[in-house]
Amino acid sequence: MLNIKYELAKELKAKPVKGQPLGFGKITTDHMFIMNYTEGKGWHDPRIVPYQNISLAPTAMVFHYGQTMFEGLKAYRSEGGEVRLFRPDMNAKRANVSNKRLCIPEIPEEDFVQAVKELVKVEKDWIPTEPGTSLYIRPFVIATDEFLGVAPSKTYLFMVILSPSGAYYASGLAPVGIWIEDDYVRAVRGGMGFAKTGGNYAASLAGQVKAHDDGYSQVLWLDGVERKYIEEVGAMNIFFVIDGKVVTPMLNGSILPGITRDSVINLCKSWGLTVEERRISVDELIEAQKSGRMTECFGTGTAAVISPVGKLRYKDDVMTIADGGIGEISQKIYDTVTGIQTGKAADPFGWSVVL
Ligand code: PLP
Ligand code: COI
Repeated sequence: MLNIKYELAKELKAKPVKGQPLGFGKITTDHMFIMNYTEGKGWHDPRIVPYQNISLAPTAMVFHYGQTMFEGLKAYRSEGGEVRLFRPDMNAKRANVSNKRLCIPEIPEEDFVQAVKELVKVEKDWIPTEPGTSLYIRPFVIATDEFLGVAPSKTYLFMVILSPSGAYYASGLAPVGIWIEDDYVRAVRGGMGFAKTGGNYAASLAGQVKAHDDGYSQVLWLDGVERKYIEEVGAMNIFFVIDGKVVTPMLNGSILPGITRDSVINLCKSWGLTVEERRISVDELIEAQKSGRMTECFGTGTAAVISPVGKLRYKDDVMTIADGGIGEISQKIYDTVTGIQTGKAADPFGWSVVL
């Protein structure tokens, strides 16, 4: 249990005007959580302070070698007015999986969740209420040692910041076009693909720019060895409906074990659908689309929620899925997941945590 010190802001910022599109990750709230780590002392000095810039030496290790971890989750306000988080314990667990891979000291799960909950409580008036909006929560760790050698840092900062957000994609729930990248790769098995760390996203930028230049929203990555098997999208896991079965790439060490992915798999199974976690080759997809057996495709992620994919491009093949619209299963999953998150739908798995 953390003994959090509070230093509250004397002046509060103006909240966003109701009804104006929030976009994603553009504004921050009045406060942030911060805690230090020092070797020999452990995590110490947890505090909630006014949102502010931090000062680091130019030699701070995070700037040079990318020793960093981040997480993403959301707080929702239900129609009844209570504040809900979605499976925050899963983010705390995954944060430590990433920390371990990055040689960052682990954060006790209960401390991670407590930091998130306490900060959201302070900032609860920032949770937007319009449909499709939420308070995006970004916990992260950075390495702060002042040293230019390549080694794990001995000091760190763990911070949590908040951003009232709307849809991740400008198109909202409208289906997105996805570019299957056949040149660049994002991660390889044995690398850090399963961890949520800045380097994976830095590796994804060149492909993303290429895709955007061609009018596609995101990149769907192929495996880093054969460039043949489907992995995941830049900020989402990916699902297909083929022959009525829900199919998604298995966790193989190079993709992120998404919390939304896990939730969708469990929901679909509970509805009696067949779910397959397995290798899916790009050739299988092309064949399934051409023969009409692939009826839906959607991405899953905290920021993106459930994002129908209307178009997939691979080299000279452009596959249109569900006539470019929203498939039946995708819509049902979207309604159920957002329903559970906002407290509108029954929550048989106990995923939604009331603050
Ligand atoms: N894959 C990547 C690369 C991501 O950045 C995200 C977003 O967090 C996901 C998948 C989906 O994970 P989650 O559902 O836990 O948000
Ligand atoms: C999230 O969905 O929480 C993510 O982290 C995606 C992010 C890279 C925008």
